[in-house]
Amino acid sequence: MESVSQHKSVLVQEVLEALNITPNKTFLDVTCGGAGHTRAILDADPTVKVIALDWDMKAIERAEPLLEIYGDRLQLIWGSFAHLYKLQKKHKIPKVDGILADFGTSQDQIHEGEGFSFKHDTPLDMRMSVGHYKTNAYHVVNFATAEELREILWTYGEENRAKDIVARIVDARQKSRIHTTKELALIVEQAVGFRRESRTHPATKVFQAIRIFVNKELENIEAFLPVALNALADNGRLVCISFHSLEDRLVKEFYKSTEREGRGRIISQRPVTPSEEELIRNPSSRSSKLRVMEKKKAC
Ligand SMILES: C[S@@+](CC[C@H](N)C(=O)[O-])C[C@H]1O[C@@H](n2cnc3c(N)ncnc32)[C@H](O)[C@@H]1O
Repeated sequence: MESVSQHKSVLVQEVLEALNITPNKTFLDVTCGGAGHTRAILDADPTVKVIALDWDMKAIERAEPLLEIYGDRLQLIWGSFAHLYKLQKKHKIPKVDGILADFGTSQDQIHEGEGFSFKHDTPLDMRMSVGHYKTNAYHVVNFATAEELREILWTYGEENRAKDIVARIVDARQKSRIHTTKELALIVEQAVGFRRESRTHPATKVFQAIRIFVNKELENIEAFLPVALNALADNGRLVCISFHSLEDRLVKEFYKSTEREGRGRIISQRPVTPSEEELIRNPSSRSSKLRVMEKKKAC
């Protein structure tokens, strides 16, 4: 049985090269998602193993049919990469030869999850894992103070019209609570205007900011990176794909400081980005950046 995902994996060939796949190695894919990268790694060499985790239970369930194809070469684990250390202990994960982290959300979450997209009218939730957080986008939009909301939009969305947008949100929620993605998108449109010819919807950054805040995405990456380095065997590779500058900055800074401390070597001096051909085939790959580092022996 095939697993069905709408997600198109980005930079697949580049990931395979970056991981330096050779026989009998074990890899950890900490963002299984639609399992596209997991499958590509398993297909690259019939002797390699992949331990794939995701904190979205639906992603894990969707990947389960792959166990029939790959048998014990694949292990699926539900959990957050921010808790990698605990997961290593609990599931007896050995040191691995490569780790892949493809940050952000999958197309499955955007199309089927609640609250991720203003293109579908769904309840304002935005949690990638309901098991990990209680606070959702509805709570943030309706109950955060105006100052907190402005801070969220500035920090995580780099939204420079935050003041006007928040004033509209506060005004609207005094009349009645904001329940759905379409309601929120309309409020943003009213605050900043909507130009039909514009390539991006005016609510794009607002949705991104609230999603990052609700899921603590940056905090999770910060917690993950040092533990990932420890989870690698000597000469193991850490491959991270980010989709916006806030994520990429965390990865870049971590790689630099690890290299300065003599614990790793940066393989990609410049980030690897999608080819022209990939950009045509998969336009949502356009902001992806891949960075690779290799762990130095005995650190
Ligand atoms: C861009 S998708 C990965 C797509 C995947 N590489 C593929 O080829 O199909 C990102 C995935 O990371 C997962 N994710 C995000 N934050 C996570 C976290 N803290 N722990 C585990 N998984 C996380 C999301 O649930 C989502 O499924």
